Amino acid sequence: MAIKQRILRRTVRQFHEPSGPAGHVVGWVMSTRSSNVQRSRWAVGLLDVRPSERVVEFGCGPGVALAALARRADQGLVVGVDHSAVMIRQAGRRNRAAVRAGRVRLVHASVDGMRVPGGPFDAALAVNTVGMWPEPAVRLREIGGLLRPGGRIALVSQPRCPGATAAMSAAAAEELAALLEEAGLGAQRVEMLDLDPPVACVLAVRP
Ligand SMILES: C[S@@+](CC[C@H](N)C(=O)[O-])C[C@H]1O[C@@H](n2cnc3c(N)ncnc32)[C@H](O)[C@@H]1O
Repeated sequence: MAIKQRILRRTVRQFHEPSGPAGHVVGWVMSTRSSNVQRSRWAVGLLDVRPSERVVEFGCGPGVALAALARRADQGLVVGVDHSAVMIRQAGRRNRAAVRAGRVRLVHASVDGMRVPGGPFDAALAVNTVGMWPEPAVRLREIGGLLRPGGRIALVSQPRCPGATAAMSAAAAEELAALLEEAGLGAQRVEMLDLDPPVACVLAVRP
């Protein structure tokens, strides 16, 4: 039992900050698991990104959502931020052509105390990562400051613990909405994607 718990704890830690060979595997899992890919593309669709817009994604992981964002913002700029060097490398490989063209920029940094080039942004995205951040309401207030007035933000959560339920997804949506409220970015709308468990996306607009 103790060994099982230790393995579970190490695996969870890898999803929080993938590193080393295990981190490569975790990145591969995140980029190939069909529910992950589906939820990222769905969230990008909800953000309704226009061709010339500037978009930033926090906790971009292996860069699946970045690729979907770059396809939409094909005359704009997409910036991906992650504190894992392994994830930044994988995101770079996945978006090689757009990085070379200067349409995708990658920033290896933590969301706390980061400097993000390329703003102000029209839209921001964070998928299954806000719960991992230190003082998330403070971080969201800072992110709000990177958006232009009227800029959109989408926060996505799909509980991944064993036995996760639809009630947990609904609770996650409420938590994200409360954090946005605290950060001065009143939540505008909640969307749910019917996966198992469901995915919650909370959308807000900078006043
Ligand atoms: C569960 S993964 C999700 C990755 C991607 N958004 C997806 O849905 O496939 C969480 C990601 O957030 C990143 N992350 C967690 N805490 C972070 C922080 N404080 N600053 C920057 N990135 C962070 C991790 O390194 C990891 O890549």
